[in-house]
Amino acid sequence: MTSRDDRLQRSWDRRAGTYEARMSAAEKRWFGAARPWLCHRATGRTLEVALGTGLNLPHYPAGIDFTGVEWSRSMLAVAARRAADLGFVADLRRGDARDLPFDDASFDTVVMTFSLCGVGDEKRSIDELARVLRPGGLLLLADHVESTSRVVRWLQRLADLVSVPLQGERYCHRPLRQVEAMGFTVEGHVRRNRGLIEQVAARRP
Ligand SMILES: C[S@@+](CC[C@H](N)C(=O)[O-])C[C@H]1O[C@@H](n2cnc3c(N)ncnc32)[C@H](O)[C@@H]1O
Repeated sequence: MTSRDDRLQRSWDRRAGTYEARMSAAEKRWFGAARPWLCHRATGRTLEVALGTGLNLPHYPAGIDFTGVEWSRSMLAVAARRAADLGFVADLRRGDARDLPFDDASFDTVVMTFSLCGVGDEKRSIDELARVLRPGGLLLLADHVESTSRVVRWLQRLADLVSVPLQGERYCHRPLRQVEAMGFTVEGHVRRNRGLIEQVAARRP
């Protein structure tokens, strides 16, 4: 772990208690609709990577075998409380999206929402998501991505100049391109809010 990783992780630890209150407007306006759309597709052994405070947990179907990974202890603690309140049985552990502590092809479904924008190395993380997903398994992604509007994209590029070095947060990215290049079959796709939000359900070949 680099000193930059350490700094970012501590920053997530500090924000854990207030994260949901600070994000509530964005959750209503942009992020919230992605959660049921993605999660109801999960089946079997399901891994969620960088699950944060566990906002997806209420949307998973009953009967899945759920594992969640998150690198911030404090975010993970909030997720654990949410799982307990929901009576949702979950194996929650610390881990890094860029180096997942699982064997190849361990999961039927792999989920990651609104986190690839900040994991440090998006390509490596997507490689890891694909590695732990079994052939024929389903990858479920949602993120804020580069806008379809030229003006908004330009503003996002400006924001990246500050947010990437300071917060590790990238606005101009498009995970779907890598997923398609890896040969996944896209079974579900939504792009909305001027192209800012992208939801993808893609099957590993
Ligand atoms: C914006 S929050 C999103 C949380 C959650 N996925 C959601 O949809 O609400 C990003 C989360 O990614 C976690 N994270 C960032 N980089 C990570 C990494 N390399 N490995 C694991 N978790 C990471 C942060 O600690 C934070 O909880």
